[in-house]
Amino acid sequence: MRKLIIVFGVMAVLMGVVRAADGELDMDLMQTIEDTNKSLASNIAVQNIPGSTADAKELQGLFTQVEKHFVAKGDAPDAVELSRKSKDLATGIIKSVSNKDFDTATGAATDLSRTCRACHTFYKKS
Ligand code: HEC
Repeated sequence: MRKLIIVFGVMAVLMGVVRAADGELDMDLMQTIEDTNKSLASNIAVQNIPGSTADAKELQGLFTQVEKHFVAKGDAPDAVELSRKSKDLATGIIKSVSNKDFDTATGAATDLSRTCRACHTFYKKS
């Protein structure tokens, strides 16, 4: 019986962790990030400087919201870190495209997409 109680205790703790990690993250926010990220990739591909800059700036703002969400939620240091990394990559893209360095911008956009997947692996429930 004691063993059973311990097992249930551990399960409750684990479920608590999972609950804390899954978001009531606004789905519209993530959908906007998805659309903006796609638009950014194609704007970089066609070397559209104003378009890439606008998309990267929008992503900075969107990831600021994601960061705030995970800071407020607490207990999600990796998500906070990945949100900040995403913002930094967007900042780098703005710099690169303004210097017409589209190779570096493309590399940063690839890293940005990897960062999406990294966060989803840990924090997305489905
Ligand atoms: C810091 C963490 C984090 C980062 C970075 C992140 N996401 Fe997400 N994303 C989430 C979480 C958490 C969910 C699921 C929320 C849930 O299930 O409640 C999600 C869900 C989504 C969804 C599903 C939305 C839906 O309607 O079901 C899409 C699409 C998405 N993200 C795209 C992206 C793209 C594209 C990027 C990178 C440019 C990105 N995300 C970066 C955490 C993140």
